[in-house]
Amino acid sequence: MELHVVSHPLVDHKLTVLRDKNTPSATFRELVTEIVMLEAYEATRDILVEDKPIETPVAPMVGKQLAAPRPIIVPILRAGLGMLDGMAKMIPTAEVGFLGMKRDEETLNIITYANRLPDNLSGRHVFLVDPMLATGGTMIDAIHYLAERGAREITCIDILAAPEGLKRLEQEVDPSINFKVVVAAVDDHLNEKAYIVPGLGDAGDRLYGVV
Ligand code: URA
Repeated sequence: MELHVVSHPLVDHKLTVLRDKNTPSATFRELVTEIVMLEAYEATRDILVEDKPIETPVAPMVGKQLAAPRPIIVPILRAGLGMLDGMAKMIPTAEVGFLGMKRDEETLNIITYANRLPDNLSGRHVFLVDPMLATGGTMIDAIHYLAERGAREITCIDILAAPEGLKRLEQEVDPSINFKVVVAAVDDHLNEKAYIVPGLGDAGDRLYGVV
């Protein structure tokens, strides 16, 4: 597993406001968009491009454009939706799929309750977005789900990660799968309720209110 922690003063500043419990939802949503746009710069570093001949007002030249097939952005519902806007701004030609996953409270297995994705992801670069990489369980299942459908490369983008979740990803994702993780910060630990500490609380609730 390749881990990139986007270390930048602007990210650190925005993250501090994001974490503050007094930051209202509207500001929280804007900050998530801004942080994911800054993370996208790192996350897309190895996105495939191809030559594109154009003419500027002065001379012909060969520029670059994103290569086919188009990348896909996949937010994990519900909190991942908060990161969609920023990613879609950075890669406006990307397709968007959706993955709804939750833990069955009885069996503790992860169940996929919503899936809006092409069946065949062959050759596609998938950007899987979810703000909080806590236990890692959902992310591990999502990575396997996408890889089984042929994704060529999977880049997970989170705002915060816990060391416990990162360790599980390293140990439990099939080593033949090509994936990397981009985060704005790695926090200290998970508490007994599986919240990231110091974290930012429940990302879904802070984005959309308590349901
Ligand atoms: N999900 C959240 O929204 N927050 C956490 O701290 C952990 C998981």
